[in-house]
Amino acid sequence: MTRVIGVVSGKGGVGKTTFSINIGIALRKLGKKVVVVDCNVSTPHLAYYLGAENYSVTLNDVFRDEVDVRFSPTEAGGVMFIPSSEDLNDILNIDIASLRSHITKLCDGEIFDFIILDSAPGLGLEAISVLQACDEIIFVTKPIIPTLIDVTRCAELASRIGHKNFHVTLNMIRNKKYELKALQAKGLFRTRILGGIPFDETVMDSTALGIPIMWYRPESKVSESYMKIAAKLAGINYKKPSALEKIANKLKGQDKVDFSGFS
Ligand SMILES: Nc1ncnc2c1ncn2[C@@H]1O[C@H](COP(=O)(O)OP(=O)(O)OP(=O)(O)O)[C@@H](O)[C@H]1O
Ligand SMILES: [Mg+2]
Repeated sequence: MTRVIGVVSGKGGVGKTTFSINIGIALRKLGKKVVVVDCNVSTPHLAYYLGAENYSVTLNDVFRDEVDVRFSPTEAGGVMFIPSSEDLNDILNIDIASLRSHITKLCDGEIFDFIILDSAPGLGLEAISVLQACDEIIFVTKPIIPTLIDVTRCAELASRIGHKNFHVTLNMIRNKKYELKALQAKGLFRTRILGGIPFDETVMDSTALGIPIMWYRPESKVSESYMKIAAKLAGINYKKPSALEKIANKLKGQDKVDFSGFS
C-alpha cells in the first residue's frame, strides 16, 4: 500500500523541504520507491534544493487538469519528484483543494511505497490541502518551547480531519540548555517523536548548492539521522555501517548517488 506522508510545520524555514527531500533519498537507499511532491505552490523550492533544472511538467499543470498526475513525476539523481512552478503566472487559476483527488490517483497501482508531500508553513489553504491529502503527518519543528502552541494546534486540526498518525521531528538540534530534549518534547507535545536531526551549517551549504545533504555529506551526523528516521518510518532495522563497511561501500560505489531511476 502506498503511504502518503504530509510534512508540515507551524513556522516557515524550519526545514520541511530539506526534510522531505532527504527523507526521500534515505527511503530510496532503503529500497523504497518514493516520490516527493512540492505542495508549496506559493513559494516552491523543491526543484532548486534538488538542483533540478530540466523539468517540463509541474503540479500547477496537474491542478489545471492539463496533465494526469500519474505522468507528472520527473527524476533528479534517482529521486522522483513533482515540482511546483516557479512562474508567477502559474499561481492563478489553480485549485489547490483538489490535491487530495490527484494524490489518490497517484496511489493507483501502488507504483510508489511513499508519497511525501512538502507543505507550505502554517495552517493556510496549502497546508490544509496537504493535511487532507495525506494519511500520516510529520510535523517538523525546532526543539523550542514556543512551538508547543503550533504543534498542539496542528495536532488538533489533524485530529478533526480524522488523522491518527501524527509524528513530530525535531530539527536543527543544537544541544543548548534552552532546548527541549526528545523526552520533554514527547511529554509536552503529547505526541510521538519520530526522531531528531542536529543543526549543521553544512546543510545550509548543501541547500545553497542544490545538492541534498544525503548526497553532499552521506556520512555526516545529519545524514545518519535521516537514515534512522527513514528506517523507523519504514519499519526497518537500521544499523550504522561500520568503518569497514563504509570502505567496502565506497569501493563498490554504493555511497554514490543512485541514478538507477524507476524504469
Ligand atoms: N539540520 C539543519 N541544520 C542546519 N540548517 C538546516 C537544517 N535543516 C535545514 N536547514 C536550513 O534551513 C533553511 C530552511 O530550510 P527549508 O527551506 O527546508 O525550510 P522550510 O520549512 O521548507 O521553509 P518554508 O517554510 O519557507 O518552506 C535552509 O537554508 C536549510 O539549509
Ligand atoms: Mg519549504
